[in-house]
Amino acid sequence: MKQLFRTKAIATKQDHAMHHLKACLSKWDLTFLGVGAIIGTGIFVLTGIAAATQSGPAVVLSFIVAGFACAFAALSYAELASAVGGCGSAYGYSYAAFGELIAWIIGWDLLLEYAISVAAVANGWAGYFNNALSALGIGLPDALTKAPKLGGIINLPASMIILLLMGLLIAGVKHSAKINNIMVCIKLVTITVFIAIAMFNVNPENWHPFMPFGWFQTLPDGKTVGVFAGASIVFFAYVGFDAVSTAAEEAQHPQRDVPFGIVVSLVFCTLIYILVSALLTGVVHYDQLNVASPVAHALKLLGYNWASALVATGVIAGLTTVMLVLYYGLTRIIFAMARDGLLPHFFNNLHKKTQTPVRVIIICGVIMAIIAGLFPLGDLAELVNIGTLAAFVLVCLGVIVLRFTQPKLKRPFRTPFSPLFPALGMISCSALMAFLPAQTWWRFLIWLAMGLVFYFLYSKRHSKLA
Ligand code: ALA
Repeated sequence: MKQLFRTKAIATKQDHAMHHLKACLSKWDLTFLGVGAIIGTGIFVLTGIAAATQSGPAVVLSFIVAGFACAFAALSYAELASAVGGCGSAYGYSYAAFGELIAWIIGWDLLLEYAISVAAVANGWAGYFNNALSALGIGLPDALTKAPKLGGIINLPASMIILLLMGLLIAGVKHSAKINNIMVCIKLVTITVFIAIAMFNVNPENWHPFMPFGWFQTLPDGKTVGVFAGASIVFFAYVGFDAVSTAAEEAQHPQRDVPFGIVVSLVFCTLIYILVSALLTGVVHYDQLNVASPVAHALKLLGYNWASALVATGVIAGLTTVMLVLYYGLTRIIFAMARDGLLPHFFNNLHKKTQTPVRVIIICGVIMAIIAGLFPLGDLAELVNIGTLAAFVLVCLGVIVLRFTQPKLKRPFRTPFSPLFPALGMISCSALMAFLPAQTWWRFLIWLAMGLVFYFLYSKRHSKLA
């Protein structure tokens, strides 16, 4: 390897270095990347809200329902990651399975999913951060912590954390992966503290009634509630496992390690979610959980103030890793799309020294910082789930299509019981989409329409692969 770097660079090698990423991530780096992206706002914030307003203690069933949909999608992701590879995630796979137009649509959809996820989680992060500042007596004025729609000017901490992460990613992926690993450990310690305390404080009475809103019902105001509606919300907690696939090009053994990272991180997080949501609704009655920091709140109600503060600190670290990994994934998808000519060549460039796509990192960082500062969490979060679910549906379909069109393709990892499992993935993800509000559908469709206009005006004419 050293020899390689010593060798006098020839033009082609320079060109390779300018357009290909360094392969330096191990299978455990990838798994940590997955856990870093998965455990976040979903379990620490949305569990409480879903329990209080949608599912009651049966939020644990909502997690299981959403987990099943993700499991089918994850197996499909793993097969495509091993067979097709590439760093563009679902974008790259749909290119292989369906051709350019669908690949473009899915890539455009992933841009929405990742960028808005980062901005949404930054808002959640800022909430915890602002609380911590207030607890220390140095709270910022409302004008600097709220979006205009909520009566402020800008959510400054939300913007600032994104700009900080921008610096980290510019410094280089291996550095970021190391920091990610440390923060994931902090997050896991935080969860362990909660589980250890909650286990000894469960009051089974809190689990009654277990399913106060049933499986599914529509209230007089048109709002849908129940276990399934809860599942379409807590689905957000699983968003991010696909980020492992965006790191394929930086993996040492992508075909073996990416499926490993996806499956192991998803199974691990699902078990944690089931445990945490069951305990959370076991220690506090579900109707008290509609707060910004339900896990810390529950510990406070139990009288463990030190643990509450510790957990809040851990959550701040936890949400940081979520943003880091999703931001990382976003830049890699754009990089892949630019390399194929679908986005301007300007984005397909690595910095000579850091070997990272600096231009993409900076442009995305600035845009997301503006979005995070100016739009409230609620508006952003809804969009994420619909975009992600749509991507999952196409990935599952991709497995089925490729099995027919390219039966001889080498598949180091095969989705079991295909086409049954991918079909179940499509059905369950589409069902979860159906539970999202009409307004979210409209926003999603408008974004897709913008993407199509861009495709026909620019991408189609500049595509290198067409
Ligand atoms: N799954 C990530 C979270 O819950 C996006 O924050």
